[in-house]
Amino acid sequence: MTETLIEAAIARAKNYFAGESSGHDFWHTWRVYRLATRLAEETGADVGVCQLAALLHDLDDVKLSPETAAKLDHARNFLRGHGCGEAETEHILHIIRQISFKGTDSVRPDSLEGQVVQDADRLDAIGAIGIARTFAFGGHAGRPIYDPDSAPRLGMDEKAYRAASGCTLHHFDEKLLLLRDMMNTPAARRMAEHRHQVMVAYLEEFHLEWDGIC
Ligand code: ADP
Ligand code: NI
Repeated sequence: MTETLIEAAIARAKNYFAGESSGHDFWHTWRVYRLATRLAEETGADVGVCQLAALLHDLDDVKLSPETAAKLDHARNFLRGHGCGEAETEHILHIIRQISFKGTDSVRPDSLEGQVVQDADRLDAIGAIGIARTFAFGGHAGRPIYDPDSAPRLGMDEKAYRAASGCTLHHFDEKLLLLRDMMNTPAARRMAEHRHQVMVAYLEEFHLEWDGIC
């Protein structure tokens, strides 16, 4: 994996996500890239494959680019256009397909590289940054912050998860608080534990303030 290919992927992501405001901006991709690098080094996964998959993982996200999501055209064209070999291209696209959260249809990637990138993406969904991204997404999607008259929907499959339109606070029960126990690698599990506790403390405070107790 050449240095220039990674640099080109960074430039592609920077350009692609300019102006994005749903919590999937370039800096999300950048943080996932950095986390994936660290986890790859710790686990012995192929660092270059993890870095490329991290940098390209949201280019064809179904929420951001529904017309290219099925075939991953943006990621595929980037890799082909930069001379990445057929086998490596397919491996990276396979990782991107597997990592996304799909409720009860979520999968544990079948390669170590996939597991690393999935952990990196999921770590960025939780903790202080995860909280910020979640409310950014909720605002972008026109969701209320919280609606105490509704309840979270647990156990959703991919179809129900994608169609869900509840309040943002329910996203914690529907996804974010589940991620700690879905980590693949030991280092990510340790980091997830810390970030999980940050969310638990935040939610406690949210409800205390909601009830006017403090
Ligand atoms: P994945 O990246 O695994 O496909 P998503 O794209 O569903 O996962 O979610 C990425 C992030 O976008 C979430 O962690 C959250 O911050 C935000 N998000 C997605 N769906 C919702 C939602 N229904 N309500 C609030 N935030 C959401
Ligand atoms: Ni992502």
